[in-house]
Order: sequence, then C-alpha cells, then structure tokens
Amino acid sequence: MINIGILGYGTVGSGVVEVLNTNQESINKRAGEEINVKYVLDLRDFPGDPIQDKIVHDFETINNDPDVSIIVEVMGGVEPAYTFVKKALENGKSVATSNKELVAKHGSELLELARSKNINFLFEASVGGGIPIIRPLNSSLTADEIDEITGILNGTTNYILSKMTHEGLEFADVLKDAQDKGYAERNPEADVEGYDACRKIAILSSLAFGSQVDYEDIYTEGITKITASDIKYAKEMGKAIKLLASSKKVGDSFYAMVAPFLIGDEHPLYSVNNVFNGIFVHGNVLGDVMFYGSGAGKLPTASAVVADVVDAAKHMNRNIMTFWSSGKLELTDISKSER
Ligand code: HSE
Repeated sequence: MINIGILGYGTVGSGVVEVLNTNQESINKRAGEEINVKYVLDLRDFPGDPIQDKIVHDFETINNDPDVSIIVEVMGGVEPAYTFVKKALENGKSVATSNKELVAKHGSELLELARSKNINFLFEASVGGGIPIIRPLNSSLTADEIDEITGILNGTTNYILSKMTHEGLEFADVLKDAQDKGYAERNPEADVEGYDACRKIAILSSLAFGSQVDYEDIYTEGITKITASDIKYAKEMGKAIKLLASSKKVGDSFYAMVAPFLIGDEHPLYSVNNVFNGIFVHGNVLGDVMFYGSGAGKLPTASAVVADVVDAAKHMNRNIMTFWSSGKLELTDISKSER
C-alpha cells in the first residue's frame, strides 16, 4: 500500500479524492499497489463528510509520518505551499502538484531537490488542466529542439471570450459563471489579467528550452480591455479574439508574451472554445503537434494530479523528470518580436 497526504481540500483536492474513489481499481492496478489517502490537510473541518476522519490541521503530522511516501499539493499560491513541498522533498517524499505559481517560481530548485533525492516532483496539472503537455515535453518530444509553443492556456478567459462571442453575454456575468463552475482562480484577476497564462507559458518554456524562464520577464496583457464592440468587429471580420500565450526561439533569441490576438479560422487555435485549452508545439524535426482538451475544472485537473501520483508510485526510487537549469534564460525585448 502507498499512503498519500493531500494538502488542501478545495476544488482540486476534493476532485483528487473523487477520482481516486471513482477509478480505484484501475488506478491501483496501474500504480502496482493500492493508493491510500491517509491524510488531508486543511484549515477547515468537514463534519458529515467521510473525509473528516483523515483531516489534519498540521503539515508536520503528515511530513513526520514515515508511512506517507507521496504528497499531493493542491493548495495553490506560493506560500505555505513552497515551504511544505520543499520539506516533503527533503524528507524523501515525492510530490504531485497542480500549483502553477509554485512551479513557475521555484520549479528548477524543486526539480533539482527531487533529483538529488532520487524521487519525483511532478506537475502535469499545472498547465492545461487535464491535457497531457508536461509529460510529452518531458518524454515524447525530447528528440526535438522545440522552437515554438503557442497556446490558449487559461480556461476562464477562453470561456469568457467564447460566451461573449457566441452568446453575446456581458463580461461580468460570464466571469461569475466561470467562478461558479470552479474554473477561475480564487482571485480572478490572475485569469483576466493574463498572469495565470503567463506562469503557464513560463513553465512550458522552461521545460522546452532547458533553462528557467522568469515569468516576470514575460510581456503580459489580459482581456480586461476587450469590449463588446471589439468582439462585434472581430466577428464581422470572421475572426475570433483569443488570449494567446506564446514563446518562440528564433536563432539564439527567445521571445515570450501573453496577449489577446485576433485570429482567423486558418489558425489552429481558432476553434478552441469555452473552457477548452489548445497548445500548439513546433519542433525542428517533428514539425507541428497540437494538444487539445479540458483546460480547467475540478475533475480534469484532478485526473492529471492522480496520474502523477500513479507515476510517482511506479517510480518510487527513480527520478523521471527532465531537469531545467536555474540559469535564467534571457528573453529578447518583445517589441522586437513578430506579433
Ligand atoms: N484558472 C485556471 C484557468 C485554472 O482558468 O485555466 C486551471 O489552471
């Protein structure tokens, strides 16, 4: 039996428990052992919920238990997630996380720490919700020099822009709907100002280009300035407004940006609507490849987290993640990039 501790019983944390319960048999078979949730860390209590028996309010209870070998971090935010994840890795426990802020800020350090301990720091759910993109960049696409990643990486803003375009709804109403559905961040400014997509393209770029891309260096513009009349004119031109996150390598220069773009139906991301995400990758020998699917929400995100738990269980004493160096990748001034 492999015991896990889940940090956070919010949208994703409760989704992780639900996925483990729903597909218990096949998950255990694939992991090679029974996966057992031993603890759930949360500040709250959940009277009447079967999870209550596992609730603890102190991280050290989980970290000090030698029977726990995998930690699932789904709290979000940099602190205290960073402190807990670092302590867990130092203590020899593998970590699966959905936390893009944590990975974007401390990814190279935590990957290096996991590698030094021969365990794993896995973060498939940090980008693209349920879409496999970290694992392909870490394995299937490693024969290539990746020179472009362009994606719709934020489900909330894509949902808002799609509803405004196709149903003529107002920004504020659609945002509320996205929050009710569990797509939006706790502070939806992270979605609508483009910060969430910025962190995600920083993670993908760091992995693809092998060096830490600092998300603070990425030019970022969200969708708050998009008006109903912008949407109307775009429609009249047969185009769609999409919040794209893109990074490119041109010669020895690297560019990255997040901004709303006007795209036509010839663009591979034109038909990616609602909460779906789409990620287009170009490699020098592979050519084009496109990833598409559920980009946010409780169960798609939890599915990716649980898949990482299965991988961590299968590779208990073997590090499987490609490391990216902490040496910062200098981005070329975006004003010199082609838009
Ligand atoms: N708020 C994020 C989004 C959640 O809308 O894409 C998934 O990372």
